[in-house]
Amino acid sequence: MKKILVINGPNLNFLGIREKSIYGCEDYDHLVKMIEDYGREKGFEAECFQSNHEGAIIDRIQQAYFDKVDGLVINPGAYTHYSYAIRDALASVTDFPKIEVHISDVNAREEFRHISVTEPACDGQIVGQGLKGYLTAIDRILEDKKR
Ligand code: DQA
Repeated sequence: MKKILVINGPNLNFLGIREKSIYGCEDYDHLVKMIEDYGREKGFEAECFQSNHEGAIIDRIQQAYFDKVDGLVINPGAYTHYSYAIRDALASVTDFPKIEVHISDVNAREEFRHISVTEPACDGQIVGQGLKGYLTAIDRILEDKKR
């Protein structure tokens, strides 16, 4: 069974509390359950990890290499726009597809959100689909021909 890791960065544990007009009313637990239910439906093992700390996210990306995951979905939150350290961690792991997700349409928001320093180290990016974007990213991984 394929193993897919979903990493959420800072403030995504505050889904359902933070800026609901942008990120919606569903909370982080809802997101995790949605991904786990999709795993049962499609037959993959989902692991969800969230941290507000840059180093913890890097540690988890490196762990994915040893765990031999089949794919990584990552929403690095605001780190997207400036964390060269997370970009380097993503660039270090090349054995599995990596898809970046943003709940909101970052390109239609403040200018600082238009830049993703992490996206070039990923195999694709999905923006502005709300929480459904995570499932679209998982579909991309499941369709990946290399695996
Ligand atoms: C986000 C967009 C980022 O700009 C922001 O800092 C987030 C969430 C999104 O999912 O739309 O925390 O990654």
